Amino acid sequence: MRVVLRTFPSRPCLFALPVLRAPRFHANAIMPFPHTNVPPHMPVFNARTGAGGDSHPDIERVLFSREALYERVNDMAFKISGDYAALGATEITVIAVANGAMVFAADLLRGISLNTRFDTVRASSYYDGTSPVSVPRIHNAGRLELGGRHVLLVDDILDTGNTLALLRDMLEVHRPATLRTCVLLDKKARRVTPYTAEYVGFDVPDVFVVGYGLDFAERYRNLPFIGTLKPERQDISSWD
Ligand code: XMP
Repeated sequence: MRVVLRTFPSRPCLFALPVLRAPRFHANAIMPFPHTNVPPHMPVFNARTGAGGDSHPDIERVLFSREALYERVNDMAFKISGDYAALGATEITVIAVANGAMVFAADLLRGISLNTRFDTVRASSYYDGTSPVSVPRIHNAGRLELGGRHVLLVDDILDTGNTLALLRDMLEVHRPATLRTCVLLDKKARRVTPYTAEYVGFDVPDVFVVGYGLDFAERYRNLPFIGTLKPERQDISSWD
C-alpha cells in the first residue's frame, strides 16, 4: 500500500507566523523578559490565601492600586537608569530606609539597568501611631563604603523631611560623587524641614497611608496597594 502524505495547505501558512503583540505595559517600562507579558515581579493575587487583592477590610480608600504602583515604579527605574547613564555612571549605590522603603526598593531595584550595590539604613520616627515624634532615630547606618560613589537614597514617603534631612547629612560625610533622593510618596503639606527629592513617585495629600511597605503599628506592610486606614482601625487599643 502506498501512503501519500500531503502537506496542507501547500502555501506558507500565515497563521504560523509569530504574532507581534503590542506591549501590555507602559511603553517606558523596562521589561527584562520581553518575550512574556507577565511582569516578573508584579504581585499576583493569591486565590488560596486571599493575599494580593486590591482591597482589605481595614482600608477606607485605595489611593494607588498595585497596577498603578507597578507602572510608576518602573517609570522611575527607567528615568533613574537613563539619568545616571547620562552622568557617565556605570554603577549606583542604593541605600534604602528600612523598614518602610523595603517593598518599594525591591521593585525599584529590579527595574534599574545599571549595576547596583544595595544597602539599608534603619530609621524610625513613628511609634504605634499616626503622628511622628519630632526627632527621628537612626538605628543602623549601613556598611558599604560610599566615598566617590553615586548614591541614591530611597525612602517610602517624604513627610516632615526630618528623617531624610538627617540621613542626607550623615551620608554626605562620606563624600559620595553624587547623592540623590528617590521617594515613592511626597506629602508636601507636612514639610517641617525643607527637603526636595530628585525622584518622586506620587504626591499625596495629608492623610495617613498604609500598604506597599508603609505600616500602621507594623501592620499592613504586605498590602500590594496603598490606601487610607478606616478611622476605627487607627486606635490600636481597639485591636485584638
Ligand atoms: P518624616 O516625617 O521624617 O517621616 O519625613 C518619614 C518617615 O515617617 C513615616 N511616615 C509614614 N508612614 N504612613 C506611614 O505608614 C504615612 O502616612 C507616613 N508618613 C510618614 C515613614 O516611615 C517615613 O519614612
